[in-house]
Amino acid sequence: MTDNYLYQFMFMRFLFLLSLVLVLLTVSLSSQQPLCREDERSALLQFKDGFIIDCSASFDPFAYPKVASWTPEKEHSECCSWDGVECNEDTGHVIRLDLSSSCLYGSINSNTSLFHLLQLQRLNLAFNNFNHSQIPFGVGHLSTLTYLNLSNSMFWGQVPKSLANLSSLATLDLLKCWLHGEFPTEIFLLPSLRFLRVAYNQDLIGHLPEFYSSSSLQVLTLEGTSFYGKLPTSIGNLSSLHVLNFRNCHFSGSIPASLSNFTQLTYLDMSGNTLTGHIPSLSANLTQLTFVDLSYNKLSGMLELDMFLKIKSFSVLVLSSNYLTLLTRISSNDTLPQFHTLHWVLATYRSSQISYATKTN
Ligand SMILES: *[C@@H]1O[C@H](CO)[C@@H](O)[C@H](O)[C@H]1NC(C)=O
Ligand SMILES: *[C@@H]1O[C@H](CO)[C@@H](O)[C@H](O)[C@H]1NC(C)=O
Ligand SMILES: *[C@@H]1O[C@H](CO)[C@@H](O)[C@H](O)[C@H]1NC(C)=O
Ligand SMILES: *[C@@H]1O[C@H](CO)[C@@H](O)[C@H](O)[C@H]1NC(C)=O
Ligand SMILES: *[C@@H]1O[C@H](CO)[C@@H](O)[C@H](O)[C@H]1NC(C)=O
Ligand SMILES: *[C@@H]1O[C@H](CO)[C@@H](O)[C@H](O)[C@H]1NC(C)=O
Ligand SMILES: *[C@@H]1O[C@H](CO)[C@@H](O)[C@H](O)[C@H]1NC(C)=O
Ligand SMILES: *[C@@H]1O[C@H](CO)[C@@H](O)[C@H](O)[C@H]1NC(C)=O
Repeated sequence: MTDNYLYQFMFMRFLFLLSLVLVLLTVSLSSQQPLCREDERSALLQFKDGFIIDCSASFDPFAYPKVASWTPEKEHSECCSWDGVECNEDTGHVIRLDLSSSCLYGSINSNTSLFHLLQLQRLNLAFNNFNHSQIPFGVGHLSTLTYLNLSNSMFWGQVPKSLANLSSLATLDLLKCWLHGEFPTEIFLLPSLRFLRVAYNQDLIGHLPEFYSSSSLQVLTLEGTSFYGKLPTSIGNLSSLHVLNFRNCHFSGSIPASLSNFTQLTYLDMSGNTLTGHIPSLSANLTQLTFVDLSYNKLSGMLELDMFLKIKSFSVLVLSSNYLTLLTRISSNDTLPQFHTLHWVLATYRSSQISYATKTN
């Protein structure tokens, strides 16, 4: 008996000491700063040196020079703690760079040392002033990139095809980049892409590809570009889509009935195109819809307004400036609590006729 107790006691003591050692080991390891890699530090410094720091050149009034803390002095050499820089804790590689609104002013090309940061996963260069540089094709070397944000940064010119090299890319924001030329359709088909915004690039032309059902696109915004052509039936393959915004583009042809495949869709804006034909029956599966704007097109035919009223979350419908005849069983006097703007929208009709059927019950 006594032996047994002694044995148990010794064993507990051993366990206690073992856990103590483990705890100390963990503490000492985690208190160690990740070590910035020499080559990546000099790549960052070289990148910084390529620009003038001028906050008045940014579109963001709250821009401040993040790179001011980036200095070669030994006491500041831990580049992983520099403003806007984030490293992998194990390897010390720079994996995230957020230099949005950092007052960078000057040109950028494929020689930039930034493209030596081969482990980079997120890159945000929004709201700087790259002085009408083209988007460097070298960005295609960053094959692990999942997030790329170049919005509002005074780029200019063509989108390089090597963007399409980024097979892990989930988010691409090219809002207001002064892009022109033809947008590479391959980008729509990037296998991991969930968010694509190329809005407000008036001179950018392009057309939609045939979409595959493997697409994970959730947000597709082409507002204010010169994308043209028909909407392919295969757009119905984008069944994960939440937001579809083609406002003020140059799309023509009819609205494909395959849109009824968008069971996740909440926001649909195709206003200001030259779409023709009738509006397909959308409501059966589109139970998440809250906003539909199809105004300023050439849509015609009869539309059963009540199909939208059946959707619980629905709140805004804009159909003005078309050749539509709207049918509804609801009298114009009925109050529709979930439909705040309906009456206002109907009141602003220009070329669309409205036929009110009398309520039957
Ligand atoms: C911006 O571009 C203009 C015209 O090419 C040039 O004169 C100017 O020096 C550039 N500024 C910077 C900071 O690179
Ligand atoms: C890039 O660097 C190479 C070699 O250093 C040079 O020959 C080339 O002109 C540079 N390209 C640009 C666009 O600056
Ligand atoms: C595309 O990626 C591969 C490796 O992932 C790389 O070798 C190649 O240089 C990249 N192409 C461009 C144009 O960046
Ligand atoms: C891109 O960066 C700007 C500025 O930081 C931000 O407002 C915008 O939401 C970003 N876009 C995405 C898709 O994250
Ligand atoms: C959806 O994509 C598949 C391939 O994944 C294709 O065969 C099919 O034609 C597409 N659907 C439509 C309606 O085009
Ligand atoms: C609807 O989506 C499914 C996959 O989610 C796809 O197989 C089907 O082809 C799509 N239908 C149309 C008309 O695009
Ligand atoms: C609703 O979705 C189901 C399956 O996702 C599909 O079979 C059916 O055709 C859809 N209905 C309409 C009106 O599109
Ligand atoms: C709607 O209200 C007006 C005045 O309040 C009334 O004259 C009219 O008969 C009503 N119309 C219907 C269809 O109830």
